[in-house]
Amino acid sequence: MSSSPPAPTVHVNLGDRSYDVFIGAGLLARTGEELSRRFGAARVAIVTDENVAQHHLDTLTRSIGERGRGTIVMPPGEHSKSFSRLGEVCDRLLALGVERGDIVLALGGGVIGDLAGFAAAILRRGVRLVQIPTSLLAQVDSSVGGKTGINTAQGKNLVGAFHQPSLVLIDIDTLSTLPKRQMRAGYAEVVKYGLLGDAAFFGRLERNWPALFGNDGTAIAEAVITSVSAKAAIVARDETEQGERMLLNLGHTFGHALEAELGYGTILHGEAVAVGIGLAFKLSAALGLCSEADAARVVAHMAAVGLPAELRMLNRRFSAERLTGHMRRDKKMRDGALHFVLARGIGQAFTSSDVPPEAVLDLLRNAGCEA
Ligand code: GLY
Repeated sequence: MSSSPPAPTVHVNLGDRSYDVFIGAGLLARTGEELSRRFGAARVAIVTDENVAQHHLDTLTRSIGERGRGTIVMPPGEHSKSFSRLGEVCDRLLALGVERGDIVLALGGGVIGDLAGFAAAILRRGVRLVQIPTSLLAQVDSSVGGKTGINTAQGKNLVGAFHQPSLVLIDIDTLSTLPKRQMRAGYAEVVKYGLLGDAAFFGRLERNWPALFGNDGTAIAEAVITSVSAKAAIVARDETEQGERMLLNLGHTFGHALEAELGYGTILHGEAVAVGIGLAFKLSAALGLCSEADAARVVAHMAAVGLPAELRMLNRRFSAERLTGHMRRDKKMRDGALHFVLARGIGQAFTSSDVPPEAVLDLLRNAGCEA
């Protein structure tokens, strides 16, 4: 057995569904070794997309060797999170001979993680899942915590299941082939962790973001480890989002409405979240909860890294009524009330279900929406 140095590990503490998240460089080539250590001779089927396959599939298939049952390659993009693609993945996993004790290995970004994860949740009433996220967004957010699902005509992620992975392997080297636009979109979720509960982390990001975007491994590892640690702690306390986990939706109520309005994939999820986070801080300031200066600081940082931070940066006219209509159809509605994540300042987020609808409409109109 190889004697590779151990990677930093974040543990997600969920009783008998606990698992490790390994974070480091060069981990993809060590996948087979890690699978043997943890799961013995269990067989593996890979689900990935065409773009990721081009860059990383050979390394992975070489590493897993004879335990591989085969690979399913999906078209890239949000449109693959559909009922028809889900059915296709399940049928093809069964055709590959995947059994109850096997592992589905999701190699890719958030779309592949959600789609393959949901397939693993329902195939043979649940098979094990290993996440190998290759985008920054998936590394810092969607691969950890067990949310899986697909989109419907009614909205994003409205059909899905909680299905915790058995292991997450984060190889930060995979980010070197990620298009810059995708890197920026994932960075919005990194910023989220600072803004929701760690003002010092946000301060470090304001100073160090050029190193992160310059592919500095130390800066990237610090950002990924800090983000995953924050997420793991929240998920361990509130796995199924009954309370605290809702904080991870900072910017998502507005963000999902923008994605629904513009069409999935037109705007990247992280870009929509960046605008949403800007709006959430502006709403907090408008409600007198946080200072205008904090809201301006958030918008300025998003804009500095090249993320859209305000609706007007999307070069489109939006209707406030249409956007709030999408929000009402979002799964964050509970008992007829919209849930927002607001902030009392940077690093001080909280959830609220009593934001007056008029305040949201006013905010959107002030942000340039038609009435
Ligand atoms: N992406 C938010 C969550 O996992 O809860």
